[in-house]
Amino acid sequence: MISPRLEAISQLIENKNCVADVGTDHGIIPIELVRSQRAQKVIATDISPQSLMKTQKKVQRDHLEKIIDLRVGDGLSPIEKNECDAIIVAGMGGLLIRDILEEGLMKLGEAQLILQPMNNMQYVRMTLEKIHHRILKEIVVYERHHYYQIILSEPGLMKFDNPIDYWIGLESARDFTPTYRDYISWFINQQEKIIKAAGQQRNTVNVRRKINQTKYFIRMLKEQKE
Ligand SMILES: C[S@@+](CC[C@H](N)C(=O)[O-])C[C@H]1O[C@@H](n2cnc3c(N)ncnc32)[C@H](O)[C@@H]1O
Repeated sequence: MISPRLEAISQLIENKNCVADVGTDHGIIPIELVRSQRAQKVIATDISPQSLMKTQKKVQRDHLEKIIDLRVGDGLSPIEKNECDAIIVAGMGGLLIRDILEEGLMKLGEAQLILQPMNNMQYVRMTLEKIHHRILKEIVVYERHHYYQIILSEPGLMKFDNPIDYWIGLESARDFTPTYRDYISWFINQQEKIIKAAGQQRNTVNVRRKINQTKYFIRMLKEQKE
């Protein structure tokens, strides 16, 4: 049994010849992609040789050396342009994912991207817009008291009509499950807490700006819930 987060990421892959899992660590995704026959071949990479050792043990245990290729390296540097038709970057901070995409821009080619930032998701969506990737699907998974956002994109253009979508997902691509609705309620609740905390701080320009932005978010979110 794999976790709901890793399962949701794996299920976004369908019928691929080659998938790269960047920052694979435990290697659960590559093994699952092969087990479920979603990918013919997987390139599992990590910047840390120690992390990749965990995957190597599983690959050897399951005799998958010919199907799962292990490569040490930073971001997209271990893969060639158009070597894979999908690239997964999951379980890292949004700013690191942004840097990996920007620094590896030349390697993206025609590949789909499956991204799962642990925070700062707005910067990941801004980067996708900048590098001309359009979001096809937005999924929210709840696991161990956390909401995780997962983004599927492909080369193309998209338009954000509402700035709040950089934070909570492009509206036209959202999978409006009960979990997604719960996530939006949770997000509103977080914004209300921010306003309360800001009210107890000194009344500076920055604090007032933060309060105004947060109030705007809440108004937008409540409108979207109606
Ligand atoms: C928290 S783990 C996430 C593992 C798995 N992708 C997941 O979603 O559960 C993050 C992994 O990313 C690796 N990592 C961090 N920076 C990286 C980079 N610039 N390039 C490749 N891997 C990186 C770390 O060594 C670590 O193994």
